[in-house]
Amino acid sequence: MENKENYMICNCKQVSYADIAKALHNHTKMEDAIRVFEDVQNVTHCSTGCGGCYQKVLEVISEVLMG
Ligand code: FES
Repeated sequence: MENKENYMICNCKQVSYADIAKALHNHTKMEDAIRVFEDVQNVTHCSTGCGGCYQKVLEVISEVLMG
């Protein structure tokens, strides 16, 4: 995908792929996905609006953590 870093994952809160990747900096793939999700949500506020991006956010998290 072109310009993936700037790809908007959460339109409500204007959270990009890069924002989520940055929020994942202190996490490892051994962690529980839901716990990681909550942390990313606390940092970026993604998925606190309409909630429609929930699945997309989870996909980005697993993609970044799994490499
Ligand atoms: S698109 Fe993320 S909360 Fe609406």
